[in-house]
Amino acid sequence: MSKKTSKEEYNVLKSRLASIGQPQLLRFYDELDAEEQALLLDRISGLDFSYLERFSEKNVPGGRGTITPLSAMELPEIALHAEAFTSAGEEALRSGRVAAVCLAGGMGTRLGFDGPKGCFNIGVTHPVYIFQRLIENLLLRVRELGRWIHFFIMTSEVNDEKTRSFLGEHAYFGYDPAYIHFFRQEMAPAVDEAGKVLLESKTAPAVSPNGNGGWFRSLVRAGLNELLIREGIDYLNVFSVDNVLQDICDPCFIGAVLSGNYASGSKVVRKNSPDEKIGVMCLEDGLASVVEYSELSEEMRLLEDSKGDRVYNFGVILNYLFRVPELLTVTEEQLPLHFAHKKIPYVDEQGISVKPEEPNGWKFEYFIFDILGRLGPCLPYEVVRERCFAPVKNRSGVDSVESARALCLQNGIEL
Ligand code: UTP
Repeated sequence: MSKKTSKEEYNVLKSRLASIGQPQLLRFYDELDAEEQALLLDRISGLDFSYLERFSEKNVPGGRGTITPLSAMELPEIALHAEAFTSAGEEALRSGRVAAVCLAGGMGTRLGFDGPKGCFNIGVTHPVYIFQRLIENLLLRVRELGRWIHFFIMTSEVNDEKTRSFLGEHAYFGYDPAYIHFFRQEMAPAVDEAGKVLLESKTAPAVSPNGNGGWFRSLVRAGLNELLIREGIDYLNVFSVDNVLQDICDPCFIGAVLSGNYASGSKVVRKNSPDEKIGVMCLEDGLASVVEYSELSEEMRLLEDSKGDRVYNFGVILNYLFRVPELLTVTEEQLPLHFAHKKIPYVDEQGISVKPEEPNGWKFEYFIFDILGRLGPCLPYEVVRERCFAPVKNRSGVDSVESARALCLQNGIEL
């Protein structure tokens, strides 16, 4: 088939956009030169408008089912079975059944660093990059096992190039590049209060990464499921880029999930106070899920069981183990879509760039924890927070560069 001329392409798009109520995307078309026009048409054609069909879900009240507690496997019980769990996990790792997936497609807005979060240097006396910390941890495992572990890294359109070149320039911090597989997550359009897609510039619609819940679909779209099949990988240990004490492919955790025949596992930490702002494992309408801090009432935060232990007491640290066959059954359409009210820079009707001081529109996101309940039973698995949880979300204060540095030092990691 011959490629449509841009005029034809323009006409087709124009009528399509008119039919879905998004004609503003071509507002500046006539002012652009031929190259810019082609770029704009290309970008609009690449937009996934299906997100907009779900915009009305934003106004559906409540949204959540009935939340009830889900107990975790706690440290004493894990200690009792540690040997058996560890050997089951090691066996799965040695036979290549488990791979690691780092979610690094986020914007890292709170950190305010102009680059992918993994490229942020947390070092004090010498450079120690976040990616370096993760890879050092994974390399510990590789050495213990005597084999490489396939390592997937999800990037986004915004940070893909920088992430790849950064890791290449640093020789992958000693990891064998043959075992590193990048894939990009999807971008979603960003809209104004009325659901109209904003223009970031005259030649580009505003888009943003579609949250961390679409990771598996993006991996499949990148054709990497073939690698999973070829290599016999049936469990994926998925984790966030920003925890510099992330324990990756932990055999005891893997063994606990495998031994209990769970479809997924979620590492959790005991909350440091009922008011800690962290998502908590729970059941939603009887299925594993996470309830966010803002969704927990005061009464639920303090609720205790008959032994006097708080029942909503185990926070998620974004380190999950998923069984692949179950993941293949979940589509994005089945997941709830979350709407984040954000400040989105745009060009106004006069073509003037505006940097809003207040939220002016909405971004669409899928959340990883919404997958849990759709897979089957999930094992919340307690870990010691001081050893495995040092998130870098902010520059200072809670979950910051400062607190992560202190925790690294506490764990004997020189910075
Ligand atoms: P966060 O929810 O902390 O978001 O992501 P963030 O983008 O890193 O930071 P802020 O909120 O803008 O400050 C938790 C994990 O999920 C990944 C992040 O890279 C991080 O590892 N993530 C988040 C994605 O991979 N894609 C997304 O679209 C969002």
